[in-house]
This record gives sequence, structure tokens and C-alpha cells, in this order.
Amino acid sequence: MNEASLCLDGVGIRYRLGASDFVAVENVSLEIKSGERVMLLGPSGCGKSSLLKVIAGFQKPATGEVRSNGRKITEPGPDRFVVFQEFDQLFPWKTVLGNVADCIRLTRKLPRAEAASRAAKILDMVGLAGYFDFYPHTLSGGMKQRVAIARAWSVDPAILLMDEPFAALDAQTRASLQDETVKIWREARRTLIFVTHSIDEALYLGDKIVVMGRSPGRVLRIFDNPFAETRDQPESAELRHQIRALLAGNQVAAEEMR
Ligand SMILES: Nc1ncnc2c1ncn2[C@@H]1O[C@H](COP(=O)(O)OP(=O)(O)OP(=O)(O)O)[C@@H](O)[C@H]1O
Ligand SMILES: [Mg+2]
Repeated sequence: MNEASLCLDGVGIRYRLGASDFVAVENVSLEIKSGERVMLLGPSGCGKSSLLKVIAGFQKPATGEVRSNGRKITEPGPDRFVVFQEFDQLFPWKTVLGNVADCIRLTRKLPRAEAASRAAKILDMVGLAGYFDFYPHTLSGGMKQRVAIARAWSVDPAILLMDEPFAALDAQTRASLQDETVKIWREARRTLIFVTHSIDEALYLGDKIVVMGRSPGRVLRIFDNPFAETRDQPESAELRHQIRALLAGNQVAAEEMR
């Protein structure tokens, strides 16, 4: 069978809540081709981070499975790398440069000097040129997030999972990192799964936009996006409108169910 490189097949995620199970995500099926950029968009609590953690292999689904190149994912692996939503994902005892360079040395088996120079180049790209010797506890949330992004880009995994990576950044830095995301993708065309709350960001960065709903978390609709790598195209207004209406409709429906 000629299967997509990443296949989510009937994935359900449950959490133990007191004596019962809480259904966070129900029956999500997605086929993602190698090199495709997939944006996950949906209200808070619809299970976007949970899905990413299952794809990363940190968490097991209650139903269904995720396959990478036909093989069931049961644990984290070198083909996948995550930029988490949480800020504290850096090694606190390593400097900014150390956090990135050591990760490159471990994952790409590069000599120390080569890893440090690659790390420095990518830290420049995320606007942290003057901060190589700083430790994570001396950085702002957005700066820590940028170190985590630099680390992920420098590792260059086959599948990059990014959970609202630019949410804590000012508008200018965010736009510049979106541009870098496009440039980096053009060079290597790696699979990208990217969570965002911004319709504009999804339209700029995604080949596919998966709109999720909640109560329970599920896929409402998958849109093909012909407007990737362009901003504010008048022709994108209709797609933008459809996504916004879908998100607003699900919000109302979820509130009516309470
Ligand atoms: N470890 C956990 N234990 C219990 N419930 C959890 C756990 N992690 C997530 N949940 C619940 O699962 C649901 C989905 O959470 P998740 O963090 O995946 O949502 P999200 O779509 O990423 O939201 P946001 O946009 O706010 O980041 C929520 O109702 C949340 O309370
Ligand atoms: Mg989340």
C-alpha cells in the first residue's frame, strides 16, 4: 500500500479525570505527505497539543494509531522533533549557545566546533546574536521560545512538530520568524505540523489547514491552501471567511452543550 508518510488513523486521546475518563480527542484521521506543511487550528482545549504529543510518541492514544512511513509510532524517535508550547524546555544548566550546539552534536554527530558555528548561525536567524552566553533563567519567555525554535531548526528532523511556536513573540519578530520558516522549508522541504491560533499564520505557512472543534476535540474540516507563502491575498478572503465561520460555529455549539 502506498501510504502517506505520516498517517493518523482513528486517533482518540483520553485522560483520567477522577474516577472516569475524559475524552480529549475523538477519532482523528489525517494523511500527511512527506514535505507537507500542515497547520492545526482550533479553540483552546480541542486537543492540538495532545495530538502533537501523540505524534511525537510521548503519549499513547487510547484508540487508533499513528504510523510514520507505515510503522506504528510507539515512542519518541530521531525522525521527529518538537517545539513545545511550554517555555521551560531548555537545559537550565547550559547557555543559549550550549543548548543549541549540544543538541546538534548529539543528533547530527557533528564535531564541537562545527556544531557551535551552525548553532551561532541559526541563533542569529532568530535574533539572539547577543545572547550566546546567557542562561535560560535570565531570558524572557519569548527569548526562551526562540532558543527552542533555533534548536529544532538546527536539528533539521524529517518531521518537525511546532506547538504555537510564535505565540509569545511581538508582531515584528513573529513575521520575521514566519519568513524564516518559509525559507528553511524551501531548502529541505521537511514535513511540518504546526499549531496556531492565527488564521493569517495558517494561511501563510500551511499547505493544508486542519480546523478542529472541541467537546470532544475532533477534526471539523481540512482545507487545501493555495495561498501559502503569500500574505493578504484578496483571493484568500473567502477561505479566511470559511475558516473563521467554522471556528465561530463550533464555539457556539460547544457552549450550547454545557
Ligand atoms: N495531562 C493531562 N491530564 C488531564 N487532562 C489533560 C491533560 N492534558 C490535556 N488535558 C485536557 O485535554 C484537553 C485538550 O488539551 P490540549 O492541551 O491538548 O488542548 P489545546 O488544543 O492544545 O489547547 P490550547 O490551545 O489552550 O493550547 C483539555 O480539556 C485539557 O484539559
Ligand atoms: Mg496547546
